[in-house]
Amino acid sequence: MKVFILGASGLVGSNCQKYFETQGWNVTGSYFSFPVPNAVYYNTLDPNNSKNYDIIGWKPDVIVHCGALTNVDYCETHESESYQQTVESTKQAISLARQCQARLVYISTDYVFDGISGPYRENDATNPISIYGKHKLEAEQLSISQLKDTLVLRITNVYGDEIRGKNFVARIVDQCKKNQALTLKLPYDQYATPVNAWDIARAMFILLQDQKHGIYHIASTEYMNRVELASRILLYFPQAQYDLQPLSTENLKQQAARPLNGGLLKIKFSNEYPNFLFNSLDNYLRSII
Ligand SMILES: NC(=O)c1ccc[n+]([C@@H]2O[C@H](COP(=O)([O-])OP(=O)(O)OC[C@H]3O[C@@H](n4cnc5c(N)ncnc54)[C@H](OP(=O)(O)O)[C@@H]3O)[C@@H](O)[C@H]2O)c1
Repeated sequence: MKVFILGASGLVGSNCQKYFETQGWNVTGSYFSFPVPNAVYYNTLDPNNSKNYDIIGWKPDVIVHCGALTNVDYCETHESESYQQTVESTKQAISLARQCQARLVYISTDYVFDGISGPYRENDATNPISIYGKHKLEAEQLSISQLKDTLVLRITNVYGDEIRGKNFVARIVDQCKKNQALTLKLPYDQYATPVNAWDIARAMFILLQDQKHGIYHIASTEYMNRVELASRILLYFPQAQYDLQPLSTENLKQQAARPLNGGLLKIKFSNEYPNFLFNSLDNYLRSII
């Protein structure tokens, strides 16, 4: 299988590239602003840029689209930039997939839901309450309606290995390892299902291999809020100096609304792949301390 990963310098894309390569697939991945080894340049917002890698010439069987503006609060106050980076960029991924006759994988989120009654299954009604969520849903719907056989994976609270170590778990681990004092003001009322990016790559691999399409929720069996997530990490660093302040979302005053009872149920995936085991956060933490 030949797979092109748009956004292989990021958390999900880099794990997909690494895992697919271990499975013998022929993978090329792109970066945009953060060059990484073994990645080519591609800007989805400037398809005629002469520096762009010739994706069409490479003729991938699959294009995995991991590019998006993922800072939810920034998106809320920069609506047109968010639209460009999420919806327009997906239109370009769709156009590339069409020209290559490749299947598209679109990565979406539990922010397409309102968080009133999560965790959610694939057929639950969407109702995004933030600009980021609205744009992710629009991009998801375009990916499905404009191409046949699109695979959409909805994910949330992703952690795992990445060069920049910018995910929530990695940042806390990094500060603990450096013996830096932490001040953590975190919401106790935002629930989600954390998932390891490596497991997303493993799940995507099987789904692609089996020619699956449509929407799949990819999540671990863990359901926790941000305070619990941070506390779990801190358990592994008994010497850590920290001030953990649990706050309500109302008091936190984030720019964008959050789906409070968010998170995803992976029942559809697990029914089709009953032997697939997701890693737990504890497994991951034990492997990196
Ligand atoms: N992380 C999560 O918890 C989470 C949760 C739900 C959904 N998702 C979704 O999962 C996908 C991947 O997220 P992630 O966490 O891996 O994000 P990430 O680490 O920020 O990676 C985003 C990737 O997109 C690339 N990119 C950005 N703008 C681009 C452009 N104009 N043209 C081409 N590439 C561009 C970035 O390249 P550079 O870094 O080189 O600029 C980077 O490789 C996103 O669609 C996100 O919405 C993530």
